[in-house]
Amino acid sequence: MNTYVGDQGSYWMETAPPGAPRAGLDADVTVDVAVIGAGIAGLSTAWELARDGHSVAVLEAGRIAAGVTGHTTAKLSALHTLIYDRLRRSRGGDAARLYAQSQTEAIRHARAIADELGIDCDWEDTAAHTFARDPKNVAELRDEAEAAREAGLPAEYVTETGLPFSVAGAVRVTEQAQFHPRKYLLALADDLVRQGALIFERTRVVGLKEGEPCQVTTEAGATVTASEVVVATHYPIFDRALLFTRLSPRRELVVAAPVPSGAAPRDMFITREHNTRSLRTAPYKDGQRLLIVTGEHFAPGTGDAGKGFERLADWATEYFGPLTFTHRWATQDNDSTDSVPLIGPLHTGSRHTYVATGFGGWGMSGGIMAGQLLAKLIGGQSPAWSGLYDPRRLGSVVREAPTFLQHQAHVARHFVGDRLTARSAGSVDDIAPGDGALVRVDGRRCAVYRDEEGEVHALSARCTHLGCLVAFNHAERAWECPCHGSRFDPTGNILQGPATRPLERRDL
Ligand code: FES
Repeated sequence: MNTYVGDQGSYWMETAPPGAPRAGLDADVTVDVAVIGAGIAGLSTAWELARDGHSVAVLEAGRIAAGVTGHTTAKLSALHTLIYDRLRRSRGGDAARLYAQSQTEAIRHARAIADELGIDCDWEDTAAHTFARDPKNVAELRDEAEAAREAGLPAEYVTETGLPFSVAGAVRVTEQAQFHPRKYLLALADDLVRQGALIFERTRVVGLKEGEPCQVTTEAGATVTASEVVVATHYPIFDRALLFTRLSPRRELVVAAPVPSGAAPRDMFITREHNTRSLRTAPYKDGQRLLIVTGEHFAPGTGDAGKGFERLADWATEYFGPLTFTHRWATQDNDSTDSVPLIGPLHTGSRHTYVATGFGGWGMSGGIMAGQLLAKLIGGQSPAWSGLYDPRRLGSVVREAPTFLQHQAHVARHFVGDRLTARSAGSVDDIAPGDGALVRVDGRRCAVYRDEEGEVHALSARCTHLGCLVAFNHAERAWECPCHGSRFDPTGNILQGPATRPLERRDL
């Protein structure tokens, strides 16, 4: 049995808490560029654009840097498990080189920004490793070390890693980094405002009219008129290129526990074994470091987060000894079918709208790189790696057809299958306080939650994005849509898009 103490939230949110909210947009404004979403991709894009002299408005549905970015593990690494061997096989050596260059450049750029602005964001230069304990997996690590080196990274195959347990082998890449994402981004946002940019919180965007200029509409009815619009909402809320057919959302669980500094591994690590385990440490109090472990994941609405947290804690305890877990949190990643993010024009006919999504769990370097890339595209330049990340690419989608079809089958199963086969979850009386379930009422499926006081909240079970049935995530107390990952709180308010409307209320 694992030991947990404290509030069990995100370490990044606890140690850089949101201050007083910034104002919401309550009057129409006109700017050069509207950026929708204030995670690392949105804020980085806005900062680059402001630095280039553009007037910018950032529109955030919640609080800045508090969504996925506030719940990451914050590795700044160009070593993304086994991407380089995969890339050189699927898209060629040039693609692998461009990937390595673009990710490396993003890490260097973030370091330069932190230095220039004097941001105290717990920056630590480290190495990154992909390791295996099972000798059967050594061959793929050797291939990855070779592919990463060919791509231009300072990579080597090693058998000593600095972990407190032996490994069969590892890819080691030096000159990587880890940091505190919220300390970095909150300072970046302050600098954005100093440069004259507008940042609006609690401003949900619900409409986008493309044109010259474009017009963005918010839930409250205010509009932003802008020459260019960037959709950086993680999963895109506007999807005119049907990107949702090429993105798979996944809940990713994280646990953290203090360890003595002397016992803390110095670098960053990931293995595909044990369903994937990824770890790093961060500065902590009383001469300790915080061991941060992630790797348990499931499609939204389909997993048991409580058991996943336990499995992560079990793994950490097995390899690091007895631990007391002070934090645990969950985030959401979107995997693209070819494992390369989608950054560039929003759709084939796009002239003034852009998107950044599909970072697949590597959103720190990816988000910073997206900011650099989109700012250059908007400025009329075309960096060497713009084709690699262009969302309109088709060749790699054809090559990745099996992944694409697998994802479509998953969505179809939940869109059609749930309607045909899912049974009623019982009656409202069966739902315990703090729990939720689907209940059939007068022939219609309702999503019913009973709060701790016993009050019942009934909602339509149809996700407001494209109509799949939601399911209740007990450990996180949220309604989740398995199709594209929209999430809603127990009373139907949006926690995460692509949905832009809350679940409809129902009378029982
Ligand atoms: Fe697309 Fe629910 S998120 S249907």
